Amino acid sequence: MAPVTSLSDAVDQHLSSALTATLPETVGDVLLRRSDRADFQANGILALAKKEKRNPRELATDVVARVTTGELIQDIEVSGPGFLNITVTDAAIIRNLAERYADDTGRLGVPTAPHPGTTVIDYAQPNVAKEMHVGHLRSAVIGDAVVQLLEFTGETVVRRHHIGDWGTQFGMLIQYLDEHPHELDHGGTGDTGDAGEEAMSGLNRLYKAARGLFDADEEFKTRARRRVVDLQAGDEHTLAMWQKFVDESKIYFFSVFEKLDLEVRDPDIVGESGYNDMLAETCRLLEESGVAVRSEGALCVFFDDVKGPDGNPVPLIVQKSDGGYGYAATDLSAIRDRVFHLKADTLLYVVDARQSLHFRMVFDTARRAGWLNDDTTAHQLAFGTVLGKDGKPFKTREGETVRLVDLLDEAIERASAVVREKAQDLSEEEIAERGAQVGIGAVKYADLSTSASRDYKFDLDQMVSLHGDTSVYLQYAYARIRSILRRAGETRPAVAHPELALHEAERALGLHADGFGTTVAEAAGEYAPHKLAAYLYQLASLYTTFYDKCPVLKAETPEQVENRLFLCEVTARTLHRGMALLGIRTPERL
Ligand code: ARG
Repeated sequence: MAPVTSLSDAVDQHLSSALTATLPETVGDVLLRRSDRADFQANGILALAKKEKRNPRELATDVVARVTTGELIQDIEVSGPGFLNITVTDAAIIRNLAERYADDTGRLGVPTAPHPGTTVIDYAQPNVAKEMHVGHLRSAVIGDAVVQLLEFTGETVVRRHHIGDWGTQFGMLIQYLDEHPHELDHGGTGDTGDAGEEAMSGLNRLYKAARGLFDADEEFKTRARRRVVDLQAGDEHTLAMWQKFVDESKIYFFSVFEKLDLEVRDPDIVGESGYNDMLAETCRLLEESGVAVRSEGALCVFFDDVKGPDGNPVPLIVQKSDGGYGYAATDLSAIRDRVFHLKADTLLYVVDARQSLHFRMVFDTARRAGWLNDDTTAHQLAFGTVLGKDGKPFKTREGETVRLVDLLDEAIERASAVVREKAQDLSEEEIAERGAQVGIGAVKYADLSTSASRDYKFDLDQMVSLHGDTSVYLQYAYARIRSILRRAGETRPAVAHPELALHEAERALGLHADGFGTTVAEAAGEYAPHKLAAYLYQLASLYTTFYDKCPVLKAETPEQVENRLFLCEVTARTLHRGMALLGIRTPERL
């Protein structure tokens, strides 16, 4: 079906043509925004008048004289120094929503972007043989929302989970496992959740034991170091052992991602080791082009603006003096792969802000090498730190990093208590299922509702609160609408009635619902899921006002009942779709 033009775009087009008629040279863009005073306010006339050396109020008045009112525009007037206040007709609101409602693809008539491209997004990248912590939560949750948003706009998205699966620490682990071959064995036939926990606790045990021996026993240390060499040389037996660690860790990762209700596909997991074959060539290319130079045996890239506290330049080390490759060489090789092989025009990295300097240097190096340019660009979507209630980086009372699984379990437990308390006709099984959807939704929403770059407090009390800007509030709003629609049943259908005069609360709700596509486009374009979260919260709030002010099933006439049910349907679909883009479930009943 043809996409639906939003009311704001339709009004903008009207104003633009009135403007072009007034000032033929100007391609009109008058900048509309929603306003408290009127449905829309155009505030672009001021700047334009200045440019054209005209009196803004006069120019505004000329434009108004050329705008035809009727079908779409109810009223347009000049206000203040030269703003235009525009009121659209009740009929236009309902007609537009009816078109959206008729879209059976679930897109609510929202068009795709005019020129979609290919984005490779690097997110959800935990490390092999290590616990996942809250930092990994952020990358996974934000990354997933960005994937959904971009795909909704028609972008081709390639997902890359750049897991930490390579490095010298594996020498120690492999050597230990070789000497204690049954350390990773477990019965593991239980359900996925348990298998994941079991896998991780096995890895933890082995890690501690290996570490202990490595620190205490010089001979073991030597054997472990020799293992690193074997691993890098591609010794078959050593690689097979390494693969065991990777596989075991994946069992654990998948169990956490499943708990998080996040889709991670195995072929998209291309960890650091996936670029091993490219490292030597990456270095050769950088050295031959002069982008990197040898310094004290290491291959380095220098930057004018990156200096240490002593004032000396701090280079990006691409190859260490002992010949080893590190994190930077891998990331530079990944860029070559993503640009030349995956044909990306945008590379996106959802990674902690504490790695920003690394990415700045890596991207700059890639640009100097010609792998990135004005058409093929890379961005770090840098996220802030998760803080505890005390405002300090989130740690256990013993000062240890908090295990992600423990947090999620606690969130689910708290949410289940909330669901149980409110539940009227839910079975135990339903309470457990909803508890998980509400708990995980709460954690995701708390993360997504603040701008990613900011730190945020992990506060479960606030997260599962029924009041305020929480996913629970949104989920309850959705469930409440669904319950009204169920009560209406088939006897009172949802039907759009553009001929009816609307209540103020209906207008506000309808206009906001119509802006869904505009918000999604903006949120996707800026990689800013928090803008969608804010939009949805506003939608739920406007619905609450509507519900207070406008009886639905007890409205005055049958037509009004149908029209209000129709508004309920449109709101529900928008909430459902929007929450899905954030990776959050909207249960039908709560
Ligand atoms: N595994 C890394 C960590 O846990 C994040 C990887 C980020 N991605 C990248 N291409 N370097 O910190």
